[in-house]
Amino acid sequence: MIPSLEEAYFLLKKEKIPEHIIKHSEKVALISLFIGCFLKEIGEKVDISLLVTGALLHDIKKYESILTGENHALLGYEFMEKMGYKRIGDIIKAHIYLEISSFDAPISEEEIVHYADKRVMHDKIVTLKERFEDLKKRYGKDKQSILRLEFLEKLNYRLEKRIFKKLPFTPDKILELEKVKEVRDVLFRCIKNCPSCWRDFI
Ligand SMILES: [Fe+2]
Repeated sequence: MIPSLEEAYFLLKKEKIPEHIIKHSEKVALISLFIGCFLKEIGEKVDISLLVTGALLHDIKKYESILTGENHALLGYEFMEKMGYKRIGDIIKAHIYLEISSFDAPISEEEIVHYADKRVMHDKIVTLKERFEDLKKRYGKDKQSILRLEFLEKLNYRLEKRIFKKLPFTPDKILELEKVKEVRDVLFRCIKNCPSCWRDFI
């Protein structure tokens, strides 16, 4: 079972998610949708509703975890599983704990959201380089965290190569999505008209 986009927004409201986390999640959803529609257009199997709602809800337990010190990916996974949204839970878990796929495997919704999240710093679309520099500054407090972030960085460059070898543009094209101002409107419109809607974006 997958929530509709309306239900996903309702959940964000019900859980009292702060505006800055919603803005971040909308940008992650926008990038995911853009990549997902292109992949769909070239014949890849992508579940667009799962992709967009998963992206929108990926940080649903982030704020709560800041207050309680719990792990936001695992907390989000359990929360969604209990609601009957297991696949959304899988995406939430994988935005931190992504399993490595072989280089030629089809790109999963989990991988797209994981990557899109690493292209958004707060609510700004950036390069992987900028995002990891910021993550290392903020979270690289000890040797274990630095090693974990370096592992994640390598994994994301590999993932970027896998995704973009199938697409007709380079990772820099994603930066142009920063021009989209009415992100929520684009999400609602494009989720219905994918894959042809990508022309609305840029
Ligand atoms: Fe995020």
